[in-house]
Amino acid sequence: MCNRYHPLAYCLLGCGLLLSACDNDGLDVLDIEVPAGYELSAGTSTVFLSSSVAYDSEAPWVSGDYLTRFVRGDRLYDDVRTSTNGLGGGLGPVYAGYSCGSCHRNAGRTRPGVWSDNGSGAYGFSAMLIYITRKNGAFFRDYGRVLHDQAIYGVKPEGKLKVDWQFEQFEFPDGEPYELAYPKYTITDWYAEEISPDDLFCSVRVPLRHVGMGQIMSLDRTEIERLAAKSNYPEWGISGRCNYISERGVTCLGVSGNKAQHADLTVELGFSSDMGVTNSRYPEEICEGQIQINQGSMMGLSYDQLDISTEDMENVDLYMQSLGVPARRNVNDPEVKRGETMFFKAGCHLCHVTTLHTRPRGSTLLAGTQLPWLGNQTIHPYSDFLLHDMGSEIMGVGLNDNYVSGLARGNEWRTTPLWGIGLQEKVNGHTYFLHDGRARNFVEAIMWHGGEGEASKNVFRKMPREDRAALVKFLQSL
Ligand code: HEC
Ligand code: HEC
Repeated sequence: MCNRYHPLAYCLLGCGLLLSACDNDGLDVLDIEVPAGYELSAGTSTVFLSSSVAYDSEAPWVSGDYLTRFVRGDRLYDDVRTSTNGLGGGLGPVYAGYSCGSCHRNAGRTRPGVWSDNGSGAYGFSAMLIYITRKNGAFFRDYGRVLHDQAIYGVKPEGKLKVDWQFEQFEFPDGEPYELAYPKYTITDWYAEEISPDDLFCSVRVPLRHVGMGQIMSLDRTEIERLAAKSNYPEWGISGRCNYISERGVTCLGVSGNKAQHADLTVELGFSSDMGVTNSRYPEEICEGQIQINQGSMMGLSYDQLDISTEDMENVDLYMQSLGVPARRNVNDPEVKRGETMFFKAGCHLCHVTTLHTRPRGSTLLAGTQLPWLGNQTIHPYSDFLLHDMGSEIMGVGLNDNYVSGLARGNEWRTTPLWGIGLQEKVNGHTYFLHDGRARNFVEAIMWHGGEGEASKNVFRKMPREDRAALVKFLQSL
């Protein structure tokens, strides 16, 4: 059941109290559909958990052989890799994380080193990916796509990230202050040729929460393409577009990753690029060709055997795609309900699309196993999985990272799915948001929205304080 609110109704009901919220700068407020209070986030995959394992528990339909494989996948996912060969080995020689779970703790977003260590830290582990390119977009020969800031004993990390924060104070029209923090990156301790900052773009990424990976993989891609054709709201300055990527000779719609730069779950890439764990898709060490690796071989380490089998990678794939999606909480709390209305009023839902569908047959894992349970589901990811220009103005740079991924330009980002976001603090112990974790709370995350998000952000900005607070409360219920 749905409650249909007509935009006019807001003004009739709320104008006395919500004067500024009605002042929408002449924006065409659409026919707004607020989903009726209690909604299952992901159909039959919804789990009713709000504890620290809310992201990391199997969907209700996982049983029998699938449960066995889920448990094995979970173990492989969290196994702390070592530098030896064989099961649990294969780490490095250079790496960014020592298990999937080291960065995606509890299938979420590990507290990133950008804040706790101002970067890689001296000995610490940063739980981030550091992408580097030349200014013309080319990769550096001695480094490749990711700067690995960790290495096994006897090998040098490729470099270390240092973050200097710049802070700026702002005020809402009602006088309430807020602050934004902008990270300035420097890379030190290059293992080989020092790269001049004049020819370096550096994009730092904090991990994405795994909430709803199976549903994302099962999305009806034609629905996303139809959405792209439809996602055009000139009054709001919004027009989302698809990212298409070519992998192994096939062009596909990208749906995962911060720039929708991946069509699949990238399990093989995660093992290879993030941890140095070789596999059938990426049989070569990521640092192949680095001079220090030849030295490594001389130290008696052997790099010529694959570190994980395709069967085991499929178990990791199965584990991620079979995770349950936490149900929303406090949906009947009046403040949450009001915040939900504000979410629609500010046009957040034009990008953070509330409802999508999965294709009839569900998902196919990387070695061919089918997960039909993921099929034909109505889901509430709060994302359109499209790219949006998020602007380059705020604090002189905005969210632009100058990093190109497929069709996505530096200022373009995939709308982050918001399902489960309210539990991030419980699951991972922090509230750092946005692709590089620069936002320290919900308000800062919203206030970084520029470009296509500018009009929406401004509606939020002009809301009375208690409406902004209600909107945040609504986000916490997701
Ligand atoms: C060094 C930290 C690190 C390690 C280790 C790591 N990841 Fe990630 N992962 C990330 C970051 C950062 C992103 C976001 C990348 C981006 O900007 O798109 C990500 C994104 C992903 C995504 C896309 C999620 C989405 O919602 O679109 C998947 C799936 C994923 N990782 C799976 C894995 C698996 C499986 C492993 C282990 C084989 C792994 N990761 C290991 C940091 C890590
Ligand atoms: C034009 C499309 C668009 C609109 C409108 C929009 N967003 Fe976003 N939102 C995005 C994109 C794209 C990102 C990812 C940006 C990044 O990571 O740099 C994002 C990120 C976020 C995040 C951080 C998610 C995370 O896990 O890091 C939150 C919270 C959020 N948006 C809330 C809102 C709210 C609330 C509104 C309405 C006031 C809104 N957004 C309006 C596109 C949009």
